[in-house]
Amino acid sequence: APPVPFHGRHQASVLAPPRRVTAYTAFDVTARNRRELTELMRTLTARARFLTGGGTPEPAGITGPPTDSGLLGPQVPAGGLSVTLAVGAALFDDRFGLHGRAPRRLTTMPAFPDDDLQTDWCHGDIGLQLCADDTDTVLHALRDIARHTRGGMQVRWRLDGFTSPPRPSGTPRNLMGFKDGTANPDARSAGEMDRLVWTGAGAGEPDWAVGGSYQVVRLIRMLVEFWDRVSLTEQERMFGRARETGAPLDGDREQDTPDYPADPKGEVIPLDSHIRLANPRTPSSAGQRLLRRAYNYDRGVDGNGNLDMGLLFCCYQRDLARQFETVQRRLAGEPLTDYITPFGGGYFFALPGVRDTTDWYGRALL
Ligand code: HEM
Repeated sequence: APPVPFHGRHQASVLAPPRRVTAYTAFDVTARNRRELTELMRTLTARARFLTGGGTPEPAGITGPPTDSGLLGPQVPAGGLSVTLAVGAALFDDRFGLHGRAPRRLTTMPAFPDDDLQTDWCHGDIGLQLCADDTDTVLHALRDIARHTRGGMQVRWRLDGFTSPPRPSGTPRNLMGFKDGTANPDARSAGEMDRLVWTGAGAGEPDWAVGGSYQVVRLIRMLVEFWDRVSLTEQERMFGRARETGAPLDGDREQDTPDYPADPKGEVIPLDSHIRLANPRTPSSAGQRLLRRAYNYDRGVDGNGNLDMGLLFCCYQRDLARQFETVQRRLAGEPLTDYITPFGGGYFFALPGVRDTTDWYGRALL
């Protein structure tokens, strides 16, 4: 995959296709005032700019530790690294005098029916997503950023993820064995992205937020042992798609469009299937579409000896209530809920892009 440019109107990492490896880390800001927060944002910008472009680390002094962890050797390769920086609603409390400056639609993620949210795995002042082609590239970037921002923020939670290569073709599969990401809006269409993803001028949003995007992260465990005992027909009816091809159950190919009006009773694609509830393809649901950027995760085994894996679900939108929350509410009680447990995540706002070498994350906000 081509490198993801760092400078621009938007954070290009939002639209970039998922890479092989990711780490999503939420931080609590420990900076004590606006000046220190500004310093933190400038440092984050400088590190992200260096790491995504690659280069030679600063030379070390005579004493003291080396300036770079050395994980990637003496020269830091870009390695397809992308950085996505987002902020949570908590950053706009009274600590930094930012009250009233929050993106208008930024709220705190509530617990939905069937959620089993664990406080330690939810929310954060800052959400940082690193994506790259290799695990060491992601870990090098995380270590570098953590080291340079030690006085300004500390890790709250972190989940690593990965995507599979096409098996054997088309969209990569999630850990339930189904292709995941097929029916996404077209990230190459600027018009569609303006309608569905990017915060626009007006609509009550503060000027500084234009060009950003609301990011939803949901940490969703899959009960895979249980799932693997379900018949293929039943699995396919839960999603509304064929496992092998990814095609909707009324079609043949992955990219075929399901024809719901031709199947009003859900005899072919059940009315309560995941795709039909998530996107009923009616005129009013057109504005509810989301850009999904999901990764698989694996955390080994839990205390009961069960495999601990699932989906690091992430999606982008212009409006949390109109898009994610509407879809999530429609999915409540879908048959799939018996096989998944959402346990963490949060709502964040991906900042507008860093325009050039003089700009930094959140400059217009701070
Ligand atoms: C579609 C899996 C959670 C929203 C799909 C598809 C699969 C899938 C296999 C069909 C292929 C595709 O278009 O990507 C899962 C799994 C989940 C999960 C395993 C949890 C572990 C969610 C959540 C949301 C969501 C939390 C949002 C609230 C959607 C949407 C579509 C979709 C909007 C596209 C529907 C369409 O336009 O036809 N999902 N999903 N999914 N999912 Fe999920």
